[in-house]
Parts: sequence; structure tokens; C-alpha cells
Amino acid sequence: MDRYCVFGNPIGHSKSPLIHRLFAEQTGQRLSYEALLAPLDDFATFARAFFAQGKGGNVTVPFKEQAFAMADSLTERARRAGAVNTLQKLADGRLLGDNTDGAGLVRDLTVNAGVALRDRRILLLGAGGAVRGVLEPLLAEQPAMLVLANRTVEKAELLAREFSDLGEIYPSGFDWLEEPVDLIINGTSASLAGELPPIAPSLVRPGHTLCYDMMYASQPTAFCQWALDQGAAQARDGLGMLVEQAAEAFLLWRGVRPQTVPVLAEMRRLLAGG
Ligand SMILES: NC(=O)c1ccc[n+]([C@@H]2O[C@H](COP(=O)([O-])OP(=O)(O)OC[C@H]3O[C@@H](n4cnc5c(N)ncnc54)[C@H](OP(=O)(O)O)[C@@H]3O)[C@@H](O)[C@H]2O)c1
Repeated sequence: MDRYCVFGNPIGHSKSPLIHRLFAEQTGQRLSYEALLAPLDDFATFARAFFAQGKGGNVTVPFKEQAFAMADSLTERARRAGAVNTLQKLADGRLLGDNTDGAGLVRDLTVNAGVALRDRRILLLGAGGAVRGVLEPLLAEQPAMLVLANRTVEKAELLAREFSDLGEIYPSGFDWLEEPVDLIINGTSASLAGELPPIAPSLVRPGHTLCYDMMYASQPTAFCQWALDQGAAQARDGLGMLVEQAAEAFLLWRGVRPQTVPVLAEMRRLLAGG
């Protein structure tokens, strides 16, 4: 049976084995998928040992940059992201590194939430690894405007310069902005601590603006709750992004795109303790 895995440290919390088991059942693919605790000090040796037999692996915190460094070749979106969340063993034994996080976000927004991004005014909060990973796929949707706001403004400026060949990005501080936008994406890790990036409520046009938190939880995240309090048209968390990035990886490995709507519903039910 073809072997797949997710590498991380810690890894016990990972939902990827369940998501891929559901994909495999649904599509009738015979495969195994396990969560592997990789050592912090030698990811590359550990991963190479797995790929002696393994066909593919997802990569999560804190190994995405190390997976990027060890891959023998990279997709363009992984090269842009500077990080790899999906490894695939090619027929000649070399490892291909891909990054499906951004495609997962865009698919969750455009397909599951039903929001076209073309000509929209988008505010993206944060300038860490997650934001870097989604910039190329977001810009490919050709928004009317992409503002990148971060606590440390210099990091937003650096990213804006680095991606300037793909489209215009306006770097900003959180408190420089007031005009309503169509979409606000929270790519900061503030929600992990139950905190909010300090942005103006006037950025949400009630009944119109979609707010998206890349983090997910059983209850609305601090950012989703804030968005609902401002009357946002939708407040969506990152569970859909997680399921969609997994579906992109499954497609790469198996050549079959699983249906994500039933899997997302099942993951939501389990997250809520149902
Ligand atoms: N759903 C998914 O599939 C998925 C995939 C990837 C990541 N994520 C989520 O995305 C989030 C970001 O992850 P990451 O890997 O990009 O983290 P990271 O590289 O550590 O970057 C953290 C970012 O958050 C900002 N930040 C941290 N605490 C803040 C606070 N209290 N107020 C305002 N800004 C704050 C940082 O600002 P400074 O630059 O000023 O420090 C930085 O921009 C996490 O919540 C993660 O769970 C979700």
C-alpha cells in the first residue's frame, strides 16, 4: 500500500491523517497516511528515511523551511512561498516540493464561500510564513487592491517589494487604515492568544465585507467574533483552508481531486465535539 505522512513537531494534534483517510475512502484510493514526529535537529535525514518507501508527505510547523531547503526541485508557488508543505517522491526518486496553502485559501474563498476575488479590495493582516505562502495565489486572482498590514511594518514592506513583479501590494501599519474593504484576511497568529490585530471597525462594511481568519477553532476565533460584532457579511475560519490545502496535496499525489464539502462538514462536526 502506498505510504503517506505528515511531518511535524509536535504532531499529535494534526488533523491531516483523518482528512486524508476521508479523502481515500471517498475516492476509493488504497493508501496509508500517518502522523510522524520528526526530530527538531535533523528533519532532512528523518524525511529521507521515510521516502525510502514513502510516496508523499505533508509538512507542518516547524519544518516547512527545512523541507523547502531539502527538496530536489520546487513548484513555482513553493519557490515564491519560500516554504514547502507537500513533498512528493518522483519516479526517479527525487523529491518535489510544493506549497498548497495559498491554493487552499483561494479555493475556500472562491468555491466554498462563493466570493470572487477579481477586482476586490483585499486587506491581508500579517507578514509571517502563512501570509508569504498565500501572496502568489491571491495576486493571481487579480484583486483591485491588496493592502498588507503588519505590526512590524518593515516586514510588510519587504514582502511587498519581493512580490512586486506579481502585482502591487501596499504595505501598511494596522492603524493607518479606515476605508471599508471587501475582504479582510487575518494571517497573523494573534488569534492563537485570543488577541486581535488593532484594526478600525470602519474597515468592515456591514452586510458586505467578508472576514477570514486563517486560524480555526471550535468556537468563533477572536477575529471572527470581532467581525460578526461589526456586522460582517461572513466570518469564516481557516478549517476550510486546511481541508482544501490537503485536497490539493491529494490531487498532486493521486491525480484525483476529492470532494471537500462533505469532509469539511465532517471536520466541523468533530471540531465542535459532535
Ligand atoms: N488554516 C490553515 O491551513 C493555516 C495554514 C498556515 C497557517 N495558518 C495560521 O496562520 C497564522 C499565522 O501563522 P504563521 O506561520 O504565518 O506565523 P508567523 O510566521 O509566526 O507570523 C506571525 C505573524 O503574526 C503577527 N502577530 C503575532 N502576534 C500578533 C499580535 N498579538 N497582534 C498582531 N500581530 C501579531 C506577526 O507580526 P510581527 O511580524 O510584527 O511579529 C507576524 O506577522 C497562525 O494562526 C496559523 O495557525 C493556518
